[in-house]
Amino acid sequence: MNVHDGQMPSDGFDPFDLNKPHALWKQFREEQPIFYHEPSGYWVVSRYDDVKAIFDDWKTFSSENAQKPMRPMSEAGRKILTEGGFTAYSGLTARVPPDHTRIRKIAQGAFGPRRFKSIEPQIEVIVKDHLDRLEDAGKDGKPVNFWEIVAFPVPAHVLFTLMGIPDEDVPKIKQYGASRGKMTWSDLTDEEMIPVAHDMVAYWKYIHDLLDMRRETPGDDFPSDMLAAQAAGAEIDNEEIAGLLYSTLFAGHETTSTFMGNYVLAMMENRDAWEAIKADHALIPNAVEEMLRYMPSVVGWRRKARTAKVIGGVELPEGAEILMITGAANRDEAQFPDGEELNIMRDNARTHLSFGYGIHYCLGFQLAKMEASILLRQLSERFPDMKLADGFEATYHRNITFRVPTSVMVELGK
Ligand code: HEM
Repeated sequence: MNVHDGQMPSDGFDPFDLNKPHALWKQFREEQPIFYHEPSGYWVVSRYDDVKAIFDDWKTFSSENAQKPMRPMSEAGRKILTEGGFTAYSGLTARVPPDHTRIRKIAQGAFGPRRFKSIEPQIEVIVKDHLDRLEDAGKDGKPVNFWEIVAFPVPAHVLFTLMGIPDEDVPKIKQYGASRGKMTWSDLTDEEMIPVAHDMVAYWKYIHDLLDMRRETPGDDFPSDMLAAQAAGAEIDNEEIAGLLYSTLFAGHETTSTFMGNYVLAMMENRDAWEAIKADHALIPNAVEEMLRYMPSVVGWRRKARTAKVIGGVELPEGAEILMITGAANRDEAQFPDGEELNIMRDNARTHLSFGYGIHYCLGFQLAKMEASILLRQLSERFPDMKLADGFEATYHRNITFRVPTSVMVELGK
């Protein structure tokens, strides 16, 4: 966007356009750190301290709008959902205490490092298999789509190992996940909402079928853990367990796929960082933190003010719907000197806000980081000369939260 004299950076702001947002976000931080955006009805917040303060004050800033569709479902779409028996509500992100506290405590038991660590060898194999496919596709030297062959499927295969879901269901669940993302965070037309509504009905049915199967034949997986906890007296009902699956079967792979796509783009555009990682794998953990800061998958998240409150010198009124641009906060110079630069040696990289902050802090953060580290190591070992395809420039899907590239074209090199 061009900003002319007398205009504000927010004039003409399109929050769904994530193609090249960083220059504008910088202007927001510097000139309009909090403003009301009339077309969307959201208060937009971009500085690190302000975003963190909102996340931290869950009593004032409730997460009840975190899953609210940016455009309400059309009448035809609502009919499909109602007739299909779709009653899903958020597993955790849009729930508030005391329900949130109760359900999170039960879910946390199944999301601990022990369970994630136990599937590390399987993750190594899943990544290797997909890099084999990448190698195959790119062996004649022609550009290959890293997004489609690796980033998109790998996190789903990993998550489904945890969920006890067969590999052949991956394409189906990926489709439901993409529809879920669009329904909540994109600006679909009425017509586009129809197939999305059908997918949501199928997704909800899939979850109930899965739970029925696990009731009959329990396995060593997340749904079975939840049902076992319930049978042992944990205070969680069937709809809440289904809600947890509805959320996790999305949150556990879409986010990580997008992150993988984005950090490969970041690495390929920052050759020094790539060379450093190739030479010393011990740098990978901090590099992953830095890439979560610099090129995250989630760049915006929402809260609603229960009462009026002053943040950063601006009064957010009671009922205010708030869009925190975490992608902007992550580059705030006040927290991250030279924040627009990727620096894998950055001391405080891990203070990024890409997993949120406070009572809703992402439950899958260890898994996401483990997957990212394994992929980065294997990639740098197998394709040290990988680069972006000549003339390739990333474009992104329209979305207010997930910065999802449409493709990531690379050449694998020698
Ligand atoms: C790079 C990958 C990921 C990113 C960027 C990410 C980001 C986020 C964000 C921004 C939140 C909301 C935090 C808040 O409101 O304060 C969240 C919550 C959550 N995430 Fe993740 N996530 C990722 C991977 C995962 C994975 C792999 C899983 C599951 C295996 C997962 C499960 C969850 C759950 C269950 C919540 C809800 C927590 C709550 O509301 O208490 N996430 N995540």
